[in-house]
Order: sequence, then structure tokens, then C-alpha cells
Amino acid sequence: MNELINLADIERAALAQLPAGPRDYYAGGAADELTLRANRAAWDQWSIHYRVMRDVAKRDHRAQVLGTALDWPLMIAPTAYHQMAHPDGEVATARAAADCGTALVLSTLSNYPMEQVAKAATRGWWFQLYVYKDRGITRDLVSRAIAAGCGAIAVTVDAPVGARRERDVRNQFAFPVELPMSNLLPAGERYSKPDLAQGGFMGYVNEMLDPSLNWRDLDWLCATSTVPVLVKGVVRGDDALTAVEHGARGIIVSNHGGRQLDSAPATAVVLPEIATLVGDRAAVLVDGGIRRGTDLLKALALGANAALIGRPALWGLTVGGQAGVRHVLNLLRAEFDIAMALAGCESVAAITEDLVRPD
Ligand code: FNR
Ligand code: LAC
Repeated sequence: MNELINLADIERAALAQLPAGPRDYYAGGAADELTLRANRAAWDQWSIHYRVMRDVAKRDHRAQVLGTALDWPLMIAPTAYHQMAHPDGEVATARAAADCGTALVLSTLSNYPMEQVAKAATRGWWFQLYVYKDRGITRDLVSRAIAAGCGAIAVTVDAPVGARRERDVRNQFAFPVELPMSNLLPAGERYSKPDLAQGGFMGYVNEMLDPSLNWRDLDWLCATSTVPVLVKGVVRGDDALTAVEHGARGIIVSNHGGRQLDSAPATAVVLPEIATLVGDRAAVLVDGGIRRGTDLLKALALGANAALIGRPALWGLTVGGQAGVRHVLNLLRAEFDIAMALAGCESVAAITEDLVRPD
């Protein structure tokens, strides 16, 4: 794997290795993939106006987000079906995250059950919640996640319906029936097996998830949960503030990696406004297109407390299981360390907003 010297190399290797269905499901976005491309490109629009002569001989990368201590401020975003990439699936991802001093957010739609992943995630894990029409299932997921020791719950709010992902339509992609949606067992076998005829994730979302999701549901979740609740999938300042008013302790600025509403704004574009409005009232995280240590530094300068990567973890998992995800994280961490030093930052707190400008 040493010949893969950056995340782009790892992505290329993974794409070459995966069968078309899973490859395009992982890589793709909605419709014309405008937002998918914009996410990546928007980080490049910011320049880093580095400082000099700051004594960066020692650098402290540590961060604390909603009680979760991280060796550096990057987490793994929730993505479904890690076993399409590697048989060790989410357990390997969780072990790699722990090896690299960070935490993962585990998808509702993981192949390994959350209790098993929890044991592997020795540096912490959060649970990503999809709200099911059947509130019994939703309640069950929340109480199981808390019982299994999740540090927070991130409820995903940008998928009231499934988007049309045209790569999946063309491939007639469906989740492989032999891979279980383990978190939905034994609550109901039926809910764990998407109907092939319905077509992949789109069909699953439209049948199972609740399009009536609204702020009252967030009230319920925040009242029920004994761990902090984050709202994932926000791109507007007013929505972020409303979420905080309804009890959210964190906002994940995200457009689902360009997989839901195509033409949604790039996260690097909306992050500064949201971070400014939210201020200290809640944690602000961001994902979408983060592929370089400098992207992470920009995210922090623009007001995020931490950032997340989605697809790169899947590419690492594909090329090398646990070691592959570790390789992805180690490369990013090394790049982030160099970026901090060259920008004149001896600690994460020194990554201030004056460092970046939209040149
Ligand atoms: C996702 N994402 C996602 N989000 C979520 O809340 N629950 C989920 O189950 C999934 N599943 C999922 C599968 C795959 C294959 C991808 C690529 C993404 C969205 C994910 O959490 C995150 O927002 C984006 O992936 C971030 O963008 P990048 O880093 O992939 O560009
Ligand atoms: C996706 C779902 C699982 O983006 O969130 O495919």
C-alpha cells in the first residue's frame, strides 16, 4: 500500500478493484452530481494566509467534541454497507479509527451490529440514526445505541425521500441480499432486506424512512436521549439555529456527500455562516469532499470543531481492510500536521478564521 501516497491514489486503486454496482453506489451522487463535484472544488477556493515565526516545533492536534476526546479533529462519517468493501466491514473501520486516535460515526445501515462495532471502537463511536416510519424501530435503535455506549447520536435529516442516483439506476443496484442490515435484526427481518424490485437505497428509504420528519421529532429525540444529539445534513444558518433551539448539541454541516439534493451548496461555502450563527451554543462539524490535510485545516479555520470523511474510509477499506483505513487516516493526519506547521499553528486553537480567504 506504500505506493499509494495520497487519498486520490487510494481512491483510484479502490475504484479499479470494486465491481461496478458497489463502486458506483459508493462513489456516486444524485442526478448530475453537481454537488458531489462542488463539495470537493469548494475547499480549493480558499487560500491559507499562513503565519510565520510562530515556534511550531511542537504541535498539539488534540480536540474534544461533545465529550469525545480525539487525538486530531477528524472523524469517520457514517456510510452504509462496509462489507461490500471488505468482509471485516465496520469492525475494521472502527479498529482503524481507534488505531489512529479517532472515532467513527456508525451508520444505522451497517452490516455489523452496533454492539460488535462498539467493542472495536476503543476511542469512541457515535450512532447515526435514520428515523423509521415505525417509531418502535426508531426507539429500539436509540436505546440499543445508548446501551452499547455511543457517545452521541447524529440524526440524519437530509433524506426524507431517496434521491435519484443515476449510476445506481443504470446498474440496477441493490444492496446484496447476503449482507445483513444487522442493526435492524431482530427488530424485524423484513426491515433488514430491501426489496430488490424496489431498487437499492432509493426504494428502501421511500418504503421505510419517515418523510414527515420535523422539528417535533427532534424535541422527542433530545428529550429521550441521554447522550448529546447532533443534526446531520444542514446547509442553512436558520435551520442550524432552529436545531439548537430544539435541543441539538451539535450540527453536522453536510449535504450527504452530494447524494441527496443535487444543486445543494458545497459545504465549504455554507460552513462559515453556520459556524458564526451557532457560535458556542453547539458543536459544528462538517463533511463533504475533504481529501487533504489542508482541507481539514480550512474547515477548522472556517469554524468547524472537527470534520469527517465518508468515501475515503471506504476506499481504504477496499484496498486493505483495517490497514487500508489506517493508511488513509495516517496520510491525512501527516498532511494535517504539515499544514499546521507551515500555517504557523502550534495547536488546533491557533487555527483561526483570519488564516483563510476566498481568493
Ligand atoms: C453516505 N452517507 C451517509 N450518511 C448517513 O447519515 N447515513 C448513511 O448511512 C450514509 N451512507 C452513505 C453511504 C455512502 C456510500 C456514502 C458515500 C455516503 C453520507 C456520509 O455520512 C457523508 O455525509 C459523506 O460521505 C461526506 O462526503 P465525502 O467525504 O464522502 O465526500
Ligand atoms: C446513502 C445512504 C445509506 O447515502 O445514506 O446511500
